[in-house]
Amino acid sequence: MTDNEREGADSPDSPERRRLFLVACAGASALVGASLATVAGRVLLSPLTAAESGAGTRLDLGALADFESVRAGHGPREVVVEQPLEDGYSTRKVKARVLVVKDAKAASGLAVLSATCSHLGCGVAWNAERRSFVCPCHGGVYAEDGSVTSGPPPKPLARLTFAAEGGRLSLDPSKAS
Ligand code: FES
Repeated sequence: MTDNEREGADSPDSPERRRLFLVACAGASALVGASLATVAGRVLLSPLTAAESGAGTRLDLGALADFESVRAGHGPREVVVEQPLEDGYSTRKVKARVLVVKDAKAASGLAVLSATCSHLGCGVAWNAERRSFVCPCHGGVYAEDGSVTSGPPPKPLARLTFAAEGGRLSLDPSKAS
């Protein structure tokens, strides 16, 4: 290697240094991207997480009379709830789906389940023919009570705390243990 070539490899404009710089930039971008994805995921999932953990306020799900068919065994009812989410500078509404199902052991005759699959977080939906909640992502199947009947989900659908009072059904995070 000549002196000129040796100087070229050590110079700030050498191809090796540029390549090293580009690799460092790509690594830093990947780290920033992963961090932002984690934060975004937590923000999107926070309403039900808050409800399950005891924070937040009651969210009305509707009149108890509207769930008579659920109590009578005609299948679950899906409800979309909106919760205000404060992010420091503004407040916006975030929607989440919950599943109202029959629970013969409960005084109200009802239970409220999260619609989020316990495997990797996809949304489950009621399949009337199979009388099961089915997850479209990897084929997880849950019974009406939220227990896993087949597929990869490691645990049942989360049970959400609720109140059935004054003719209304509502999520009640204050009752979470
Ligand atoms: Fe539901 Fe995988 S996310 S089965």
